[in-house]
Amino acid sequence: MVSAKAVLVRLAMVAVLVAGVGILSTTASADDAATFKAKCAMCHGADGKGSAVGQKMGVHDFTSADVQKMSDAELTDVITKGKNKMPAYAGKLQESDIKGLVAYIRQLGKGK
Ligand code: HEC
Repeated sequence: MVSAKAVLVRLAMVAVLVAGVGILSTTASADDAATFKAKCAMCHGADGKGSAVGQKMGVHDFTSADVQKMSDAELTDVITKGKNKMPAYAGKLQESDIKGLVAYIRQLGKGK
């Protein structure tokens, strides 16, 4: 006989797993944060608002409405192909990495 308590514990474990998978698929991972800090923060700043160097080159604040209103496709395009002083990352980053970085930029926009 399985006790009611054991059934509840199992249900809770399933709920936690399902919630965990949901979070992973919609938000940036710790890897994306690490990639951003290693490759982008020197110009864009750890908070996405732009470093002193980046601001001289003309970066825009990732938390601003101007950047957040750009579509995922537009953000992906700039990261892949570059724009003015923004280097192109095609061939340097995997498509999946760039997707994660776009998610990370969205996360910065929400102030997280
Ligand atoms: C050498 C400095 C530099 C580095 C490194 C850099 N960027 Fe940029 N980035 C820029 C500049 C300058 C712009 C603004 C381009 C323009 O509109 O003229 C920009 C623009 C962007 C934009 C478009 C939104 C905007 O601000 O106009 C995105 C998205 C972006 N960068 C993402 C990234 C990501 C992700 C990385 C790391 C993989 C990265 N950048 C690394 C300098 C940099």
